[in-house]
Amino acid sequence: MRVPFIAGNWKMNKTARESIDFVQEVADKLPAPAEVETAVAAPALVLQSMVAAAAGTPLRIVGENCFYENEGAYTGEISPAVLKEIGVNYVILGHSERRLYFHESDEVINKKVLAAIDNNLLPIVCCDETMGRQAAGDKIHWVVSQIMADLRGLTEEQMKTVTVAYEPSWAIGTGQSASSAQAEEGCYLIRQTIADIYNDELANHIRVLYGGSVKPGNIAEIMAKPNIDGVLVGNASLEADSFLKLANYQN
Ligand code: G3H
Repeated sequence: MRVPFIAGNWKMNKTARESIDFVQEVADKLPAPAEVETAVAAPALVLQSMVAAAAGTPLRIVGENCFYENEGAYTGEISPAVLKEIGVNYVILGHSERRLYFHESDEVINKKVLAAIDNNLLPIVCCDETMGRQAAGDKIHWVVSQIMADLRGLTEEQMKTVTVAYEPSWAIGTGQSASSAQAEEGCYLIRQTIADIYNDELANHIRVLYGGSVKPGNIAEIMAKPNIDGVLVGNASLEADSFLKLANYQN
């Protein structure tokens, strides 16, 4: 049984003070983690204080990125070992904004995924798809090839720590969500790819999320789909009130 996973991704929004205020505001209004797991991804600068603020609450704290080495001459990078040390639970890797603005390749993302797992961080691996590719009819091949490249070389045990997020670029931050049927198709395809590479048991174990303009008004329809185990939410996760509606979508 896969526990639904509702994760906010704040991107480069919120001040340090706003981040802590948010955690304090939502902490005692979240669902029990055995019913619905909730998490927020925040910029690296505020993670340590967010971990402290969220201690003893159901809210998991997520890094938005990490590097593939634990230490060394890599000015400005984020060590996965330090993320773990300060109490971060998950890390987003391969977000389409990292691919677009920071030119991250599948090869780099694959190395980051392996480094995160080595440090006992749980990776949330994003794969995207553009409107152009969708129009050209090759979106299926594209999502599959990304997933295969980003997860290359992971053992079955390592794969069990992975969450995958399907995020069509054209639906991110546009207010135009994929339809629930399109979201389900992408998530199904990812699960099927994992089944093909590994096996059905592993594919049924792994959580696959949808991301792209999810909001309180469409989350229930999206979460009703059998292959969608959760959502990765940008804009609609920024306000505590909206995040709580998403987290409590079952009520
Ligand atoms: O990681 C989250 C996605 O980029 C979705 O962002 O909900 O603002 O469309 P959005």
